[in-house]
Amino acid sequence: MKIAIASDHGGFEMKQALIKHFADKGVVLADLGTHDTCSVDYPDYADKMADYILSKQADLGILICGTGVGISIAANRHKGIRAALLYNDFVAQKAKEHNNANIIVFGGRTMNIDDVIRYCDIFLNATYEGGRHQQRLNKLDKGE
Ligand code: RB5
Repeated sequence: MKIAIASDHGGFEMKQALIKHFADKGVVLADLGTHDTCSVDYPDYADKMADYILSKQADLGILICGTGVGISIAANRHKGIRAALLYNDFVAQKAKEHNNANIIVFGGRTMNIDDVIRYCDIFLNATYEGGRHQQRLNKLDKGE
């Protein structure tokens, strides 16, 4: 599975920590920026990630801003993107099983790295259930 990651300045430190965590496990993440702590606009990184996922350059995206809220809102404006803010173990599981999220989102200023790594593991080990959930996903992108 190919995974990409991007953040604004509020998520930069957590992005770097996740890149290191995955690298230690032998998984290289595609880093779409930002590349330092200078102030940037989170919609730019949400848009970049959405384009990357929708053009199938990666199977999963990870987005991080200060709270995870702004970058979630921005990513979910793209038809075909299902960005899920993972804030506990149950949500991490269901975001895959029920929502088949193609982007997972974290808050760099509101979450700690140990929890975020665990949420990533739970999400990556879960399986999309399809069935009635697919019927619901189909309705997300209708009529646009
Ligand atoms: C940037 O200061 C901050 O507003 C952003 O990272 C995010 O928290 C927005 O939702």
